[in-house]
Amino acid sequence: MKVLVVGGSGFIGTALSEELAAREHDVTVLSRHPDEDGVPTGVETVSGDVTDYGSIETAFEGQDAVVNLVSLSPLFKPKGGDGVHFDVHLGGTENAVRAAEEAGVGRFLQMSALGADANGPTAYIKAKGQAEEVVKGSALDWVIFRPSVVFGEGGEFVSFTRMLAPPYVTPLPGGGKTRFQPIWVGDLAPMLADALEGDEHVGKTYEIGGPERLTLADVAREIHESEGRSVTVVPVPMALAGVGLGVAERVPGSPMGMDQYRSLTFDNTTDHNDVDAFGRTESDLKTLRAYLTGD
Ligand SMILES: NC(=O)c1ccc[n+]([C@@H]2O[C@H](COP(=O)([O-])OP(=O)(O)OC[C@H]3O[C@@H](n4cnc5c(N)ncnc54)[C@H](OP(=O)(O)O)[C@@H]3O)[C@@H](O)[C@H]2O)c1
Repeated sequence: MKVLVVGGSGFIGTALSEELAAREHDVTVLSRHPDEDGVPTGVETVSGDVTDYGSIETAFEGQDAVVNLVSLSPLFKPKGGDGVHFDVHLGGTENAVRAAEEAGVGRFLQMSALGADANGPTAYIKAKGQAEEVVKGSALDWVIFRPSVVFGEGGEFVSFTRMLAPPYVTPLPGGGKTRFQPIWVGDLAPMLADALEGDEHVGKTYEIGGPERLTLADVAREIHESEGRSVTVVPVPMALAGVGLGVAERVPGSPMGMDQYRSLTFDNTTDHNDVDAFGRTESDLKTLRAYLTGD
């Protein structure tokens, strides 16, 4: 199968390209600045920006399947403001869907995010939710994945938590009670590849999480303890964290703002973990601790 992985030079895209190449698919990675030497052996690269339709349309010709992994991280406030999430996640998806339809591509895998909601609380969550509606309204054989946070080599979840929650004495908004369900990229990538290969996945939206529901404080503890450091969490009242990030919101160039605060006000966990659609159970997925300690 010929597969175009849009946003394939990033964290999840690199793992997925490796998986698809190992399954002997012909993989092309599209991104704004793909590094030919950074992609797995045998994988081709093409430059394009999903916000500019003319720069991406020809890459879709002749493809059997497309995966949309383009991302603007929700962990930081984007340069240009939160509205950029709509340009990239919504406008970029509209362009990718249009290019796939015009090229007659069959399968289209959209990477969304757990909690995606067209009327949700942050620009990222809203844009992801609206992008899902574009995909569902298309003529394509679509599959949507909504993962919780993903960890692994090259991912930013562990390094971001290390920065947000320093070791020893660790002030965390609300005591770090927001819950996540981290999944290892090495478990996720084969599920994405299966979703491209199996017809039973067409028209499905999958909520995907790892084996454990961990609070932010748990995650901080696991990271620092795996490096031999202790963590004592000092709760910062949510209202105070909101005031602090509200001030940061108005500081030009600040990497954090109100959306980063809002992201900590709701859990990022599945009701039903759809890993079972891929023959997996939570108990056979890698835990964050096993990844951190190299088990
Ligand atoms: N990582 C997680 O924990 C997580 C959790 C839930 C959902 N997701 C979703 O999973 C997907 C992949 O995430 P990731 O962590 O792999 O992201 P990532 O490492 O930041 O990779 C993003 C990719 O998108 C490309 N890109 C960015 N803007 C682009 C544009 N305008 N046009 C074309 N390519 C563009 C980047 O390459 P260039 O810079 O060269 O353009 C890169 O290849 C995203 O949809 C993300 O929202 C991720």
